[in-house]
Amino acid sequence: MADLSINIAGVNFKNPIITASGTFGFGKEYNDFYDIDKLGGISCSAVTLEKRPGNPPPRIAETPAGMLNSVGLQNPGVKSFIKDDLPWLKKQDLVVIANIAGSTYEDYSESVELVSSSDVDMVELNISCPNVKEGGVAFGTNCQSVELITKTVRKVCKKPLIVKLSPNVTDISEIAKAAEAAGADAISLINTLTGMQIDIETKRPLLKNNVGGLSGPAVFPVALRMVWQVANSVKLPVIGMGGISTWQDAVQMFLAGASAIQVGTANFLDVYAPLKIIDGLGAYLNDKGHANIKDIIGKVEVWQ
Ligand SMILES: Cc1cc2nc3c(=O)[nH]c(=O)nc-3n(C[C@H](O)[C@H](O)[C@H](O)COP(=O)(O)O)c2cc1C
Repeated sequence: MADLSINIAGVNFKNPIITASGTFGFGKEYNDFYDIDKLGGISCSAVTLEKRPGNPPPRIAETPAGMLNSVGLQNPGVKSFIKDDLPWLKKQDLVVIANIAGSTYEDYSESVELVSSSDVDMVELNISCPNVKEGGVAFGTNCQSVELITKTVRKVCKKPLIVKLSPNVTDISEIAKAAEAAGADAISLINTLTGMQIDIETKRPLLKNNVGGLSGPAVFPVALRMVWQVANSVKLPVIGMGGISTWQDAVQMFLAGASAIQVGTANFLDVYAPLKIIDGLGAYLNDKGHANIKDIIGKVEVWQ
């Protein structure tokens, strides 16, 4: 069998499949379906310094080949995560990534300091949540603020730092370079694309928040293009996500330059999607005669 293990910023993953933040909770519910230690890692739902109730419903809507959400960072707060959720997760054999969101430089910094002093393996800085006014997206949409927020948390972060980028920008490569220059250890992308749907009978938006984040297969080609651009712009490892539902999507992400991938919305349609992706990826590598996942990373042969 091909070797699927990878190392990102000094952290070993048994395979490069990670579940995406906000789509897998803190792992416990999914463990009723399968042993989550079959996964390479879990990116936990975002936590903020204080607990948040999230946005009022309706906050989920189906779209052609995707979904809109405006959950808005409902979470128990960073201290409760460390005390109540992390101990169980750390008993599972997978990489635990804490996803941190915030509203100000100070609360990002305080949350990252707290969480990176705990047992988590890595920290993912969510500067890309489009669903709340103060959900961090303001930090993620221009190079200066990306650089400043990354620098600010880098100073207090005791674990490898992944910066998660928003696709709601003009030039994703420049944003990635800003995060790299400020000390990020890895880049992950994409978060959701801002979208909207209107009920033509009531003439009201489907989401109470009016707009939300689009995810699922509909965003895959955009995500793939952005991962490819970023992988060709920075030296850091890139974790690709956005609409990955099948092992064929995953293979495309690796060819585009991702060193690992995250699976999000697909978990809602098929609870076993990440496991099917792990199996399919291994079979593809065997079939093509590759002994190692690294043999295909960034190996897309672009037309000249
Ligand atoms: C319901 C829902 C909640 C999400 N919550 C978070 C979150 O808490 N933190 C975060 O960084 N991304 C969050 N995301 C974004 C996903 O992690 C991922 O970046 C995005 O959905 C694209 O991947 P996908 O198409 O595979 O879902 C959320 C997405 C969905 C659908």
